[in-house]
Amino acid sequence: MKKIKIESFLDVYPSKDALPEAISSLMDAAFEAREKAYAPYSEFLVGAALLLDNGVVVTGNNQENACYPGGLCAERTAIFYASSQYPDAAMVSMAITARAKDKETTVPIPPCGICRQAIAEYEIKQKMPISLYFMGERGEVLKSDSLENILPLLFTSKYL
Ligand code: THU
Repeated sequence: MKKIKIESFLDVYPSKDALPEAISSLMDAAFEAREKAYAPYSEFLVGAALLLDNGVVVTGNNQENACYPGGLCAERTAIFYASSQYPDAAMVSMAITARAKDKETTVPIPPCGICRQAIAEYEIKQKMPISLYFMGERGEVLKSDSLENILPLLFTSKYL
């Protein structure tokens, strides 16, 4: 038996204001989307803004359902819309922000495992990494250069 070590590196920005201007604007779009989330059950609002290589910004937010599994996360709402409307455009960067209704969310909120898997599909399809920036409602922003960094041992079609 031997052990393998899986390492990844992420960049930490102290706040949204420290981001490059274009990414800060993308995060603003995610903030705007977050406030339109339909999350009456969890009261946890998530917004995502996705920049495409054709310059279009697609946003999404979480959509919940009384039958809980029927809902969808913000990230997948955005990428599925982008892929359905602009199937030939590559996804460049995604900004994600989340906040709870009754407490301040000051830590970066990472995308859930299902969203990581779903976003990775497009990274593989377009043969180009998608950079992810995620945060709470304020505080530090984490940047991952690629999905690979935050989803080690990714399952892909090569195993099928
Ligand atoms: N949620 C997202 O929108 N994205 C994530 O990556 C994590 C969770 C949503 C799903 C649900 O509406 C609420 O946050 C609480 O889990």
